[in-house]
Amino acid sequence: MTRRTAARSAAPEQATGAGREAAAERLLRSTAALSYDPEIEIDWSAPFDQDKGFILTHRCSLYGTALWEGLSPSQRLELGKHEAASVASTGIWLEAMLMRLLAKHAYHGDPVSRHTQYALAELADECRHTIMFARMIEKMGTPVYGPPARIRAAGDLMPALARGPAMWAAILVGEEIIDRLQREQVADESIQPLMRMVNKIHIIEEARHISFARAELPRSVAATGRAEMAYQRAVLARFALIVSRSLISPLVYRSVGLEPSQARAAALANPHHQETIRFGGEKLVAFLGDHGLIGRPGMRCWRLSYLVS
Ligand SMILES: [Fe+2]
Ligand SMILES: [Fe+2]
Repeated sequence: MTRRTAARSAAPEQATGAGREAAAERLLRSTAALSYDPEIEIDWSAPFDQDKGFILTHRCSLYGTALWEGLSPSQRLELGKHEAASVASTGIWLEAMLMRLLAKHAYHGDPVSRHTQYALAELADECRHTIMFARMIEKMGTPVYGPPARIRAAGDLMPALARGPAMWAAILVGEEIIDRLQREQVADESIQPLMRMVNKIHIIEEARHISFARAELPRSVAATGRAEMAYQRAVLARFALIVSRSLISPLVYRSVGLEPSQARAAALANPHHQETIRFGGEKLVAFLGDHGLIGRPGMRCWRLSYLVS
């Protein structure tokens, strides 16, 4: 039995009926027991520590390049702050789409089911996350970055059009890459305490979201025909490329006096930056591959994204 076949045959038992409801019940209990209100949990008035960063040094997109060598220590910290703000801005954009997807899912679901109720609980988590990221960006004093207007316009259509396995996979692309990078730095003393608290809250609550989407995805794959799967792979690969390119806005480089298109080209050619993207998506790519969602006709986009080498 191939892994794809195994995923297809095992999925209905794990993700439908009683098993699906029991999983949602557990997630609802976890939500009730372990959720954070960033308004209360975070001391928004505490000043930043001037010597600490917002991202790990080796995760800065220009780390190791000639442009990086030309930056002073304080410029490197400043660029890291803007890159962190860019990732948070992209997180806000992704969460806005996710909240609409969850609202659509709940609209069509049975309100009495634990499954629908958990979708609504997750939507409430994402509302708080978006406010938390926005407050953090405001305190950093950086622009709100995020994708360019044409990508935002396309993203506006996504919640209405998204369906099937690519929808659950796109949710995971939106959640798991940022989650893995946050996990790597949450315990690091060189990172600003406020950033670490934001990361901690997000990691704990995202663990539920990731488990919800990972349980739904195999069920959706099992219900999808061969030709439709090819379409789903193409859509997903395109979305993954957009997300990977949106994490760091080219405009962040202006903060240290660099020309955006030149610095962007240096970052995209930087093996350290490519490795950061690959690291962020490592577990996700393995999971999506196991469920037949990485393959033709999407491989060119996956390789361009640096999520697959
Ligand atoms: Fe979130
Ligand atoms: Fe989430």
